[in-house]
Amino acid sequence: MITGTGISKTFRQRGGVLGAREVPALRDVDFAVERGGAVSFIGESGSGKTTLGRIIAGLETHDAGEIVIDGVPMSSLSHRRRQPYFRRVQLIHQDPYSALNPTRTIHQALEAPLALRARQTGRPRSWIDSRAQELLSMVGIDPGYVLPRYPHQLSGGMRQRVVIARALTMDPEVLVADEAVSMIDVSLRLGILALLKDLRERLGVGVLFITHDIATARYIGDDGELYVLYRGQVVERGATEKIIADPVHPYTQSLLSAIPVLHGLEQPGAERVVPKEPQGEGPPGGCLFVPRCPFSTERCEQETPVLGRDGGPGQETEQEHACFHPRRRSVIPVGVGE
Ligand SMILES: Nc1ncnc2c1ncn2[C@@H]1O[C@H](COP(=O)(O)OP(=O)(O)O)[C@@H](O)[C@H]1O
Ligand SMILES: [Mg+2]
Repeated sequence: MITGTGISKTFRQRGGVLGAREVPALRDVDFAVERGGAVSFIGESGSGKTTLGRIIAGLETHDAGEIVIDGVPMSSLSHRRRQPYFRRVQLIHQDPYSALNPTRTIHQALEAPLALRARQTGRPRSWIDSRAQELLSMVGIDPGYVLPRYPHQLSGGMRQRVVIARALTMDPEVLVADEAVSMIDVSLRLGILALLKDLRERLGVGVLFITHDIATARYIGDDGELYVLYRGQVVERGATEKIIADPVHPYTQSLLSAIPVLHGLEQPGAERVVPKEPQGEGPPGGCLFVPRCPFSTERCEQETPVLGRDGGPGQETEQEHACFHPRRRSVIPVGVGE
C-alpha cells in the first residue's frame, strides 16, 4: 500500500519580465493506492498530474507531506535506503520513444534490471533470460521477435509494451501510468489499456492511472477510485462509477459535459456545464475554480473549500468534493468508444 498525505509542491520558474514566479503544482494532496487497486487521476494539462506521478515514484521531491510505502514513512529513511521502496513503484510515462535507450537492444534493456532483481532475490543468472521471455509474453509480444531488436525497429505500441515489461522486472506493487497511451496510435491504444487492466487482474499489481481523458480512466478502473485534479488541488474524489454517473463539482461536470458534445453525440444544452473562459487567477484566498465557475458566489471568492462530503444542510454527498455549492446536475456520461 502506498499513501500520500498532504503532498504539496511549488516550482520556482525563472525568467520572463516579472522575474521568478512561484507555480504551485500540488496543493495538499492525499491519496492511497493498494496492491491490485485502480486509482485514476484526471485533470487538464498543467494540473500537476505528472508531478504527482514523479513524486510517487521517488523521482521528484515534495515540499510538504509524507509518502508511506508498506507502512514505512519515506522521510524517515536516507536517500539511499528509500530506493528499494520506490522501486516497488514503477513509472510508465507517455513517451515510449524516449523511455528506451536507442543504442541498446530489447534484450539489453531487460537484462540490466533483471540482473539486479536476480541479485536481490538470490536467483542464478540463468533465470534472467527465461524471465525476460516470460515478461515479454505476459505483455503480449513474441520474445523471439523483439529481444534482438532495437527500439526504432518496433512500433509505438510494441515499444510501450516493452516499457511495461521492463517496469515489471522489479515486481512492482504499483504501476504509475502517466498518459501511457496518449502518444500511441489511436488504433493501438485500447490494446495497451486492456493490457494494464489484465496485469491488474493477473498479477494483482496496483495501477495509478494518470490521464486527461475520463473515458480511459473509466475503462481502466471502473471498480476503482477517481481523483479529479484542478490546479494542483483534488476537487472531487470517490468511486469512479459514482463520480461519472453523478459528479457534483462543477469542474468534473464540465469535463463530463464535454465528452458527448465533442463526440458530436449531443448539442450543448442547458444541462451542460460549460466553464467560462478564465480571466486571471481568481481572488486570493478564494476557490481556485472561481474564474471559470458558472455558479460561483461571494463566499467562493472569500474562502477556499476543502475536500469533504458536506453539501449543505441534509445534502451530504457520497463522494468527497471541494465545493461550497455541490449540486447534482444531469450530465450524461458515455463509455469508451461510444
Ligand atoms: N520542473 C519544473 N520546473 C518548473 N515548473 C514545472 C516543472 N514541472 C512542472 N512544472 C509546472 O507545474 C505545473 C504542473 O505540471 P505537470 O505536473 O507537468 O502537469 P500535468 O502533467 O497535469 O500537465 C505546471 O504549471 C508546470 O508548468
Ligand atoms: Mg503530464
